[in-house]
Amino acid sequence: MEEIPVKVAVRIRPLLSREILHNHHVCVRLIPHTQQIIIGKDRVFTFDFVFGKNSTQEEVHTTCIKPLVVSLIEGYNATVFAYGQTGSGKTYTIGGGHIASVAEDERGIIPRAIQELFQSISENHNIDFTIKVSYIEVYKEELRDLLELETSMKDLHIREDEKGNTVCLCFNYLE
Ligand SMILES: Nc1ncnc2c1ncn2[C@@H]1O[C@H](COP(=O)(O)OP(=O)(O)O)[C@@H](O)[C@H]1O
Ligand SMILES: [Mg+2]
Repeated sequence: MEEIPVKVAVRIRPLLSREILHNHHVCVRLIPHTQQIIIGKDRVFTFDFVFGKNSTQEEVHTTCIKPLVVSLIEGYNATVFAYGQTGSGKTYTIGGGHIASVAEDERGIIPRAIQELFQSISENHNIDFTIKVSYIEVYKEELRDLLELETSMKDLHIREDEKGNTVCLCFNYLE
C-alpha cells in the first residue's frame, strides 16, 4: 500500500488551573493501546499519533519531529503544521513562546529541531548547507514578521510565484 505522506497527530492538553477552578471537565479520553480518542460519550476518532494530557514535549518531538529532521538532512522537504482553536496548546507545543525562559524539558518543537539541525550540520563536514529562517505570524488576515518587528504588517504578502511556490514577500525590502 502506498504510504500517505501526511501524518496527523492529536495532543490533548491538561486542564489549566483556572479551568479546574471553574469546574470544567475533561471531555476527551484515550483508548489505551490504540491511536484513538473518544470525545463525549461515543464519538471515536483515529489519528496517526495520539498524545494524552500527560505527554511530554520530548515524547511529541521524538515521535513526530525527529524523523522529519533526519529526512531534511537527507534532502527531503518537511512541513509541520499546528492546528487548533485558540488556547488548545499550539504555541506551547511548537515552543514559540519565550524560549529563553523555558526550562530544558519544557522546550517545544522549534528549539529542539533547530538544535538537532545544527548538531547534524556540525557532524557532516563534507556537505555544504545553507539555512534561511523566517518567522512569520499569521493572525486573522494579518501577517507579522517576528524577526523584524519594524516591518509594517501591510508590507508583508503571501503570494504564489511563477513556479507555483508559496512565498512570503516583503515589499519594504523589494523597493
Ligand atoms: N501540553 C500542555 N501541558 C501544560 N500546559 C499546556 C499544554 N498545552 C498548552 N498548555 C497551556 O495552555 C495554555 C494555552 O496554550 P497555548 O499554547 O497558548 O494555546 P494556542 O497557542 O493554541 O492558543 C497556555 O497557558 C499553555 O501554557
Ligand atoms: Mg498561540
